[in-house]
Amino acid sequence: MNINENFLKIQSSYLFSNIAKKVREFSEANPDADIIRLGIGDATRPLPEAVTAAMHRAVDEMGTLDGFRGYPPEYGYDFLLNAISENDFKARGINIGADEIFVSDGAKSDTGNIGDIFSNANTVAVCDPVYPVYVDTNVMCGRAGEAVNGKWSNVIYMPCTAQTGFLPELPAQKADLIYLCFPNNPTGMTIDKKNLQRWVDYANENGSVILYDAAYEAYISDPEIPHSIFELEGAKTCAIEFRSFSKTAGFTGVRCAYTIIPKELTFGGVSLNALWARRQATKFNGVSYITQRGAEAIYSPEGKPQVKAVIDYYKSNASTISEGLKSLGYEVYGGTNSPYVWLKAPDGMASWDFFDLLLNKVQVVGTPGSGFGPSGEGYFRLTGFGSAENTAKALERIARL
Ligand code: MLT
Repeated sequence: MNINENFLKIQSSYLFSNIAKKVREFSEANPDADIIRLGIGDATRPLPEAVTAAMHRAVDEMGTLDGFRGYPPEYGYDFLLNAISENDFKARGINIGADEIFVSDGAKSDTGNIGDIFSNANTVAVCDPVYPVYVDTNVMCGRAGEAVNGKWSNVIYMPCTAQTGFLPELPAQKADLIYLCFPNNPTGMTIDKKNLQRWVDYANENGSVILYDAAYEAYISDPEIPHSIFELEGAKTCAIEFRSFSKTAGFTGVRCAYTIIPKELTFGGVSLNALWARRQATKFNGVSYITQRGAEAIYSPEGKPQVKAVIDYYKSNASTISEGLKSLGYEVYGGTNSPYVWLKAPDGMASWDFFDLLLNKVQVVGTPGSGFGPSGEGYFRLTGFGSAENTAKALERIARL
């Protein structure tokens, strides 16, 4: 019997599991340490009241003979699909039908699983640094090739560095599948319509598919920055978009997201909407009624301002971090239309050395930039997802370094 040997090629532990283990070990050795966690981008504010009220009502319904529901529809309840279509797309002048939306348990799952519908012969392009899920899942299925000097042989790395303004450049060779994430995780940088249009045009000219992760779109306040790739001319024939309620409404523990695959989108002459529908119907049993009612409430008149207040709270933290670090002389990026702040480790330090320094000396946890790819070396990520008090405290501690 053989296992999938691709798993042996990959680092045994996922980036954020690795960090959690290091923090746990530190905490066990220093039980009195007051650790401030600004590492993983996990929500800390409570769910909006409109969401919990809707979930309570749904629980009560499920306890009645008439209101009980078994398996949810594979792709989402109509009430949520319609709310998404109306509020996230029609309201921005984009026409996305309910049958182009697939509700799921997370953008991590969807960006990881989407590879199921593509051949391993495709060449993949990723930004560098990058959300590790895109690369790791391509390694797991054997599409990434072999590891050579810290890079995968069948992956095109598009450096996003201070020199490129943290934007990827169009690849010189043909990329079949292009992962883009804006606002970006980890750098917190954004892309404007003009620049994104170049990617859409490239994809249409080359028959590529853009896998567009817009999990952080709710953090955009600049009107020049698109919330959806489908705001761009021609995107429906070349893009899949991933959205999440995790960072929008604190659903990291509740689990609900959605993926848009336009009907017009084909690859090798085949409808990707139909393939993904088949994949999901076979491997996924839908998101609970209670969760979907909670998600629907985000779009209600009460829910909207409550959600906005939480996002404003995290954005204010991100601004506290980025302004605070700048005043301390750090080189800082992101943090305005994004919950993430990307900084250069001081004095040419390596990312993990800076991680150890912060943890050991001032008990602040962040994420080493090198964990996101070779071009992340020497950088570090902090998130706005902590409490305002802890965020301010973390800055005071960093100032003491
Ligand atoms: C992160 O910290 O990068 C995110 O929490 C990852 C995720 O959403 O899975």
